[in-house]
Amino acid sequence: MSKNNLLCMTTALVATVAVSIVLVTGPSHSQSASDGNTVSSTGNIKLPEVDFRKEWTALGAWAVAADEGTAGSKGIHMVYTQPETVDAYRKTGKFPDGAILVKELLGATTADMTTGTISRAGDIEGWFVMVKDSTDKFEKTNQLWGKGWGWAYFDAKDRVKTTTVSYESECLACHIPAKDNDWIYTEAYPVLK
Ligand code: HEC
Repeated sequence: MSKNNLLCMTTALVATVAVSIVLVTGPSHSQSASDGNTVSSTGNIKLPEVDFRKEWTALGAWAVAADEGTAGSKGIHMVYTQPETVDAYRKTGKFPDGAILVKELLGATTADMTTGTISRAGDIEGWFVMVKDSTDKFEKTNQLWGKGWGWAYFDAKDRVKTTTVSYESECLACHIPAKDNDWIYTEAYPVLK
């Protein structure tokens, strides 16, 4: 083998290794399970800063039926989580600590299209966020936390300040049907199966 060929192969090998390192370390870095900034040291919650529509997994969608006598949907709920939460859930059947679920509320408009009467997503109205913590470390000091989760709602105009103050009075009752499922309506999330 000529010296040049050897040099070429070495360069290629180094390049491959470098690319592999980037591939291995890259995603886990930019898509950290806890999304670092979402929960403050006192348990306050803000909307994840990461571009979750692009970087996270879409778990599923819920269509809110339009009022009686009107066709289609008047709202669409899109639910997202980190890709590593999906991996962990597929392995264990549980949401791991640090799992974040974001439910985005979108308005909807309905039109006759070539496929039929179709509703599509409109403007963003707000976001529900849940953050898993099986240790409930903020339960005694922050009313957004309990039952193994942090719970918060954000109006579309403010991604930082939650409009809800108590998970117990503002969230829990409506999630009782999903109690045996760690409070989550997983039946609409095929990617977890
Ligand atoms: C009026 C009842 C109601 C209230 C109040 C409510 N939820 Fe929910 N939530 C639901 C239902 C039903 C679903 C699934 C269907 C849907 O999207 O409407 C859901 C879905 C969710 C999801 C998507 C994950 C899942 O469980 O499937 C999140 C996240 C969520 N809620 C967070 C919250 C938080 C945080 C609060 C309080 C700030 C809250 N919810 C208050 C009924 C409610």
